[in-house]
Amino acid sequence: MDAMVKQVTDDGSVTFISKKYDEAYHSLTGAKEEAFKKYAEPCWIKELAKKGNIKILDICFGLGYNSAAALEVALKENPDCKIFIIALENDEEILGQIDKITPQIDHYDMIKKLAQKEGKVKEIKEKNLHIKLLLDDARMTVNLIKEEFDAVFFDPFSPKKCPELWTKEFFAKVNRLMRKDAILATYSCAGEVRRNMTNAGFKVIDGPIVRRWSPGTLGIKV
Ligand SMILES: C[S@@+](CC[C@H](N)C(=O)[O-])C[C@H]1O[C@@H](n2cnc3c(N)ncnc32)[C@H](O)[C@@H]1O
Repeated sequence: MDAMVKQVTDDGSVTFISKKYDEAYHSLTGAKEEAFKKYAEPCWIKELAKKGNIKILDICFGLGYNSAAALEVALKENPDCKIFIIALENDEEILGQIDKITPQIDHYDMIKKLAQKEGKVKEIKEKNLHIKLLLDDARMTVNLIKEEFDAVFFDPFSPKKCPELWTKEFFAKVNRLMRKDAILATYSCAGEVRRNMTNAGFKVIDGPIVRRWSPGTLGIKV
């Protein structure tokens, strides 16, 4: 039996429902919209692209929509921008779905190429783009990273279903990998999430409100 079921969201883009977590991989109000409005825009990807060099940490890569949205926004602004993404994901099965979908996001072909690579470290380098995916538990792979990031997309399943990634300890490890003033964006505004972020060293502010009452959360590296 498949461990995930395909579903079309309100903006026409596709997501999956995980049977293991009993939760969707994206907001059902629009998976593609979420990638642009909750991640790429609040992390100032367009503005970073003007400077010519961006480093992004994409935690919980899934179908790669958040990374793809960042590529679209950055390369539209500055086609010569150098972009380096490290992506963390622990499930080969969701990566296997990438080849079967065609979201209307520029450069999604790069995400497809990445997902087709064999092994626990998947990497593509083409012109000014470099994407590296570490396929294992993010609580372990986060310790292998040496780079300093301008932006972090933080997109696990909900704190209720996946509490191990929303801890102070994990946020602190991520915080150490960010340059001063870099932004971490996440969709959750749960009180405990915000307390853990604050205790891990972030300045916490509201993120964008996208088709619901509550905002997401942004963590600024101080
Ligand atoms: C909400 S989905 C992310 C959607 C994704 N950002 C996208 O753009 O398609 C959460 C992802 O976290 C992954 N995940 C869950 N636990 C993890 C862990 N401990 N380490 C790494 N990835 C994990 C799941 O396999 C799933 O792909």
